[in-house]
Amino acid sequence: MDVTKLRRAVARTRLAPVAAFPKRLARVARHDAKLLRTSARWLVTSREHHNYTYELTRLSRQHLAWFVSVVCDVPVKQVRAWFQEIESDDALRRHIEQATAGAQRRGLADREVRYARRIGWYAIVRATRPALVVETGVDKGLGSCVLAAALLRNAAEGHPGRLASLDINPEAGYLARTAPWSEVVDLVVGDSIASIEALDRPVDLFLHDSDHSRAHEKREFDTVEARMAPGGLLLTDNVTHTNVLADHAERTGRRFLAYRETPARHWYPGDGIGVAW
Ligand SMILES: C[S@@+](CC[C@H](N)C(=O)[O-])C[C@H]1O[C@@H](n2cnc3c(N)ncnc32)[C@H](O)[C@@H]1O
Repeated sequence: MDVTKLRRAVARTRLAPVAAFPKRLARVARHDAKLLRTSARWLVTSREHHNYTYELTRLSRQHLAWFVSVVCDVPVKQVRAWFQEIESDDALRRHIEQATAGAQRRGLADREVRYARRIGWYAIVRATRPALVVETGVDKGLGSCVLAAALLRNAAEGHPGRLASLDINPEAGYLARTAPWSEVVDLVVGDSIASIEALDRPVDLFLHDSDHSRAHEKREFDTVEARMAPGGLLLTDNVTHTNVLADHAERTGRRFLAYRETPARHWYPGDGIGVAW
């Protein structure tokens, strides 16, 4: 009996789990050893303690381009060009590096600029040309800078817009306090629910990225709903953890899609973009 026939014969017996054990053990050990090596390297090379930054794998970047293409109904080539636009924006990159190096909390930040799924946020703003973007949860202001860069490009093409960046922490947003990016950003300090209630203009693009508890995420979407412009887009950064935006989309008669990012060379499993439109 040749080896393949023997293997198939064993697979049909009660010995199958025992016979398969060494192969299963080797597979999981290889996987976990790789994760341990990546984690150990990150522990000594990175300073970040939350809101981790990383590049996307090539495949994940391709999937993100198609995700934006479908949601915004624009050619995928155009989306890739927008990814290239933000990634080759040297002025923004230099600003983030310098502001990070000079920040009081530089001990908890990496100088290398890595946008991950935020390039998707950028492309969505370029595609939809919103007059008002609202981002809840600002942290250092990396996302705010990316969104502001898209709004500045839109304005240069005759489609001006502003970003309201809402955070409960008065120290948040230090990257977004420098011109020209600051010229299109309103940093609002306070609980996001009260800040959404105080908005005095229709919202074209809303991004939840603040308190990621299910209850708070739901409160944000419930509160912003009456303030959305016709055809406005709702995004969540919490889509790998809750179904809140999908439920909201179903209740309000919108479509919903989710993209899950894959970080390159990082132990963190990644976040994603949920969109309702
Ligand atoms: C994940 S970070 C935001 C990341 C940011 N959008 C980016 O692109 O890097 C979450 C932020 O939400 C803020 N936050 C937490 N609870 C909040 C609340 N109830 N209202 C407003 N901001 C809140 C935190 O202070 C923190 O800065």
